Amino acid sequence: MTEPDYKLDIDHVPQHIAIIMDGNGRWATERHQPRSYGHQAGVDTVRRITSECVRLGVKYLTLYTFSTENWNRPADEISALMGLVLTALEDEIFMKNNVRFRVIGDIDRLPDDVRRKLRETEEHTAANSAMTMVVALSYSARWEITRAVKDIIAEHETRFDRSSHHPLTSADITEELIDRHMQTHFMPDPDLLIRTGGELRVSNYLLWQIAYSELYFCETYWPDFSEDDLHKAILSYQRRQRRFGKTEAQVEEERK
Ligand code: IPE
Ligand code: IPE
Ligand code: MG
Repeated sequence: MTEPDYKLDIDHVPQHIAIIMDGNGRWATERHQPRSYGHQAGVDTVRRITSECVRLGVKYLTLYTFSTENWNRPADEISALMGLVLTALEDEIFMKNNVRFRVIGDIDRLPDDVRRKLRETEEHTAANSAMTMVVALSYSARWEITRAVKDIIAEHETRFDRSSHHPLTSADITEELIDRHMQTHFMPDPDLLIRTGGELRVSNYLLWQIAYSELYFCETYWPDFSEDDLHKAILSYQRRQRRFGKTEAQVEEERK
């Protein structure tokens, strides 16, 4: 490997990186192969990038694997993807890298064997502590937010039945309450969102959580996304000033 011409600040690696892994299909089509060939290659990238994130000290890696809207793809592509999820979960990647696995999304829509394997992997890796890999499967942010609102009402109704509690009013609704009902409540918001494959959109991913994430887009198709590309994204992140609405001067003062 040639020496890179940049230097990452290892003390300021994003704690949480979210990735929209896009471009598998185009990568395969360019090679005159079926789209599933691209998804297969994409699994290898997941392995490489997971190991590298662990090595760099990233604590949470959230991967957009299959969106609610992806259910509208041809049936053979969907079943190839489900098959890949099953085999990828057999992988030693989690135990070898001390990675805890979690899934978010509407997993009730997934085939039984996939759903079972997901739960098994979550249990099997629950004590791993180097990094948490979160796979967003049958996920979309609007689905997640809608579900959160339904859960808030349902939980309140249950409590209301049991006690002399007041009905749910607008005063009960806080950002904290909504956040607690997001599927991602067990982790901090993403610091950095990367999208590969050249599209400049977020495609219904983590809309609530990325309010203040730094966004990074690159042309590289996901199967070609290298450790070096990951470093470039992190470097871009490290060169930015996160202000969270404050002024540059205020942020500089707080850093002292
Ligand atoms: C991303 O790659 C993976 C999934 C959505 C499952 P695509 O399959 O969207 O690849 P392109 O965008 O068609 O190249
Ligand atoms: C987003 O990619 C979903 C995943 C990467 C899983 P898509 O390829 O589905 O997004 P659009 O349709 O181009 O917006
Ligand atoms: Mg795509």
